[in-house]
Amino acid sequence: MNMVTLFFLFFCVHTRLSASIPSGYDKIFSFGDSIADTGNLLHSGALANPVIGKLPYGQTFFHHATGRCSDGRLIIDFIAEEYGLPYLPPYLTLKSKAKHGVNFAVAGATALDAKFFYDQGIGGILWTNDSLNVQLGWFKRLKSSMCTTKQECDSYFKRSLFMMGEIGGNDYNYAFLSGGTIMDLKRMVPVVVGTIISATSMVIEEGAKEVMVPGNFPIGCSALYLTLFGTQNKTTYDGNGCLKAYNAFSEYHNTRLKLALEKLRQKYPQARIIYADYYGAGKSLLHIPHHQGFENGALSTCCGGGGQYNFNYTARCGHIGSEVCEDPSTYANWDGVHLTEAAYRHIASGLLKGTFTSPPI
Ligand SMILES: *[C@@H]1O[C@H](CO)[C@@H](O)[C@H](O)[C@H]1NC(C)=O
Ligand SMILES: *[C@@H]1O[C@H](CO)[C@@H](O)[C@H](O)[C@H]1NC(C)=O
Ligand SMILES: *[C@@H]1O[C@H](CO)[C@@H](O)[C@H](O)[C@H]1NC(C)=O
Repeated sequence: MNMVTLFFLFFCVHTRLSASIPSGYDKIFSFGDSIADTGNLLHSGALANPVIGKLPYGQTFFHHATGRCSDGRLIIDFIAEEYGLPYLPPYLTLKSKAKHGVNFAVAGATALDAKFFYDQGIGGILWTNDSLNVQLGWFKRLKSSMCTTKQECDSYFKRSLFMMGEIGGNDYNYAFLSGGTIMDLKRMVPVVVGTIISATSMVIEEGAKEVMVPGNFPIGCSALYLTLFGTQNKTTYDGNGCLKAYNAFSEYHNTRLKLALEKLRQKYPQARIIYADYYGAGKSLLHIPHHQGFENGALSTCCGGGGQYNFNYTARCGHIGSEVCEDPSTYANWDGVHLTEAAYRHIASGLLKGTFTSPPI
């Protein structure tokens, strides 16, 4: 088993807006990766990661596997709930009109096109070729079936929330897993950020009025990174036990993204462009008092095959040799890359009601 197969995706999340939009939203359009995928990868076969199609994935809320990379609901599900909307249907399973929006996110998806990775000789580790551009193509096709004139489309999208990610985390995961160094990967950041910005511009040009663009999670706190890139050198860890250099890399991406979003706000004053601080929301999980939440801590996984962080890539969640914990709600980390429903609920609430969106939703 290729170790790469395991890496996946990262997080996608969502955020939501609070009551500052009096009318709320009547549709959500979501792009991204496993953080937000509600079934697209599974529907397309999930050959690279078939375990998401069986328990314990989905055990907590749906009681069966849905293709979500978690034990239960994702950030996007909590956002939909907050607005009184149904859970977003995956685009690839859509049977009727997208009355309340669609989810284009695909677990394992990258911001950059698959060709970028094939050109570098590391395309074989991709879970999917359904990059952000492919997802935008799906969106355009769907849109042309929903509205034609600008007036019609403006009215169709008037109360829509667009979630542009999280996306980009996998571009880095694949590159790190293929042996890239932090120095190497810093060169990718402007390209990844540029791709996210182009996609955001495109949906605005197509009629989006409210777009939330999440940053990357603190990857240095992920059981995957801690297991693969851990050291004996205490100075490489921060006070939370996370890898400082990898978290700094996430912050580097996020800083570039925020700067680029600021320029985009000047270009499109008619749109509301919200940055969602998944990094801050992810880190906040480390500071919830144990008695209130994650009594088993935030770094070790609920579902895994042992080791310091209960993460072993040959025995990752769903594979032989892995075990699932008794109560996932006492863990923040589900399978080493993805979080538990309990953690996603906490993050969603931090986006919708807390301080992790800017401007605030
Ligand atoms: C992605 O595209 C490459 C090159 O076209 C192809 O070989 C590969 O099978 C595709 N991967 C998936 C998961 O569809
Ligand atoms: C430990 O890591 C720090 C940087 O994080 C480095 O400066 C130091 O040389 C390392 N120590 C050892 C013994 O490798
Ligand atoms: C990881 O899991 C495999 C398969 O169950 C096992 O053989 C191996 O010893 C485990 N590695 C560690 C470090 O626990």
